[in-house]
Amino acid sequence: MIRLDKFLADAGYGTRSEVKKQLKSGIVSVNEAVCKKPEEKIDPACDVVTVAGKEVVYEAFSYYLFYKPAGCVTAKTDALHKTVMDYFPEIVRKNCSPVGRLDKDTEGVLLITDDGGLNHHLMSPTHHVKKTYYAVLDREVPVSAIQQFAEGVDIGDEKRTLPADLKILGDREAELTISEGRFHQVKRMFASVGCKVTYLKRISMGTLTLGTLEKATYRKLTEQELASLKKEAENKQSSGV
Ligand code: URA
Repeated sequence: MIRLDKFLADAGYGTRSEVKKQLKSGIVSVNEAVCKKPEEKIDPACDVVTVAGKEVVYEAFSYYLFYKPAGCVTAKTDALHKTVMDYFPEIVRKNCSPVGRLDKDTEGVLLITDDGGLNHHLMSPTHHVKKTYYAVLDREVPVSAIQQFAEGVDIGDEKRTLPADLKILGDREAELTISEGRFHQVKRMFASVGCKVTYLKRISMGTLTLGTLEKATYRKLTEQELASLKKEAENKQSSGV
């Protein structure tokens, strides 16, 4: 059993105080009877809660796709810098964490969730999903880098990088798909072929893409997106790649 105000806040209907206002206004019903009591106990498995006539679907976990802007750090809290979690309401800040890490100056796809199992799974060295980055470089990328990246390069770690797919888009633009998540990996890979990354944006993580999402905003993952992300993580596990 769970308090009605917590249930609604967890389901994304605002902070506890915002939820209380909605309850007071009489738009919330439990099993077809209007309920104005935040402390009402409900069972998410069998009670039907509606807000303005729309059924509230209880989700055990929350999954958000965030379009990270440059200038914030990928951390839950930071004494000095704005963090990616500062873009979310209190309830999300409290319960969720970013999956993996983008540098302060990197933009793009970042998954935020309270599903610790999936987070761990996506980040474990053997189960990394494919991530594609768009990069602007300070000079032309040598064509030879395509082959080098495909074979794996020495970026100063114990092991060479896993095979990665490089597409040269233009003079100083490229797209790189990697399946690991080493520290500053993309920047270090380009550095290994003599290029400095001057702009970096993660454009996809598995099947997740930004679509029409505006920079510095977020949205919930669709069921389809979540299902394919989970499937991708499972595929990695079974193939051991
Ligand atoms: N690789 C980098 O170098 N930076 C990022 O933010 C992500 C991948």
